[in-house]
Amino acid sequence: MNEVAPLPSTIAIDGPAASGKSTIGHALAQRLGYLYFDTGVVYRAVTWLALSRGIPLGDEDAIASLARSVPIDLLAPADATDGRLATVLIGGEDVTWAVRQPQVDANVSAVSAYASVREALKAQQRRIGHAGRVVMVGRDIGTVIMPDADLKIYLDASPTERARRRCEEDRGRGLSVNYEEILTAMRKRDAYDSGRSTAPLRPAPDAQIVDSTRLSVSEVLEVILALVAQWQPTMP
Ligand code: DC
Repeated sequence: MNEVAPLPSTIAIDGPAASGKSTIGHALAQRLGYLYFDTGVVYRAVTWLALSRGIPLGDEDAIASLARSVPIDLLAPADATDGRLATVLIGGEDVTWAVRQPQVDANVSAVSAYASVREALKAQQRRIGHAGRVVMVGRDIGTVIMPDADLKIYLDASPTERARRRCEEDRGRGLSVNYEEILTAMRKRDAYDSGRSTAPLRPAPDAQIVDSTRLSVSEVLEVILALVAQWQPTMP
C-alpha cells in the first residue's frame, strides 16, 4: 500500500520588506489549501480597536490589555468576492477591510513596537497557528512566535533587488517614485528591523534560507514546494 507522505502543517515565512513573502506565502497557502495568515493583521486589529474605542495610542498598558482580552480570529475567505485573502474577526466582528484604513497604517508601527502588546499578540498568533494547516508570514514567526513551526523559511533578496521590486510595485499603482530614495529607505529599515532589541529580524537557526534575488515568483514557489515535499517529521 502506498503511504501518503506527511506535509508540514505549520509553515513560517519570515523575511525583510519587499522580499516577496506575502506573494509567496499566499500562493503557497493556495497551493496547499492552507489558511494564509499575514501576521501584520493582529497588530492592525489592535490598532483599529484602540482607535475606534478612543484609547490613546500612547497608553501602552491600555492597548496591551485590549490585546489580551479581545479575541482575534482568522478564517479562510470562503466565498468572499471582494479580493480578501482571509477574513479577520475581532470578537466575532468582520474587520477585514477596517484594519487596512490609512489611520491604521499611520499608527500600527507604534503599536507593534510595544513589548507588552507583542507579548499579548504572541499568544493570539500561536492560538491561530496551532490550529494547523497554516502559512504564517511575518518577521519573527520562526524565531519568536512559532519556534516549533514544522517548516521555517527565511525569504531574502538583495537590498537593490528589493528596492527595484518596491519601485515597480509603486509605479504599478500610479505613484511617482525614486529608486535611490527607496533604496536608502530600505537600507535604513533593514538596519532598524535587525537591530531592534524586541524580536529583531533574523533567520531562525533551523530556517531554510531562500534567496530570491535572481528568481521569479514561480521559481521561488517551486523551490519552496520542493522543501515542503522533502520535509520529514522529527521523531518525538
Ligand atoms: O505587514 P503589515 O503592514 O500588515 O504590518 C503591520 C505592522 O505590524 C508593521 O508596523 C510591522 C508590524 N509587524 C510586526 O512587527 N511583526 C510581524 N510579524 C508582522 C507585522
